[in-house]
Amino acid sequence: MSDSKPLVAVIMGSKSDWDEMRHAVETLENMNIACDVRALSAHRTHDAVVEFIQASEKNGVEVFIAGAGGAAHLAGVVAALTTAPVLGVPMKSAALNGMDSLLSTVQMPAGIPVATLAIGKPGCINAALFAAAILGTSRPEIRAKIAAFRKAKSDAILAQPDPRK
Ligand code: RP5
Repeated sequence: MSDSKPLVAVIMGSKSDWDEMRHAVETLENMNIACDVRALSAHRTHDAVVEFIQASEKNGVEVFIAGAGGAAHLAGVVAALTTAPVLGVPMKSAALNGMDSLLSTVQMPAGIPVATLAIGKPGCINAALFAAAILGTSRPEIRAKIAAFRKAKSDAILAQPDPRK
């Protein structure tokens, strides 16, 4: 974990989202990008969400990642509270396999954007990489981390390309 001030805040609607959302946090930590992490619900702990987003902005957070499942309004609520970029990750819900979360997160009315990633673990990893890309527009050291991440993936494939092994 990095000791520097968090540039990213990762928020999820419930602790039950952690099994998926930890992939976003781990991906950020692997790139040494400091993040704050909270499980706070837009409908169960609305005031705490407002306080957390306001405090995060004041403390220098530049990108928010919000994951929620079901009637997944958390990312939209976060986006309503900040002008910083908000990346939404639909959780893979039990009832509808995440289709409910996907449509709830992606279909924001015009005016308050949420950039929505794929359902579940791939979306969590890509949200972290996208957050890095946003931060990297003004930080060459973070761009280098993204390049290193891609190179490690390519090297791993090329090191053993035979699928039978
Ligand atoms: C959403 O409801 C959360 O983001 C979670 O994906 C879903 C279920 O939450 P729990 O009932 O498990 O707390 O708000």
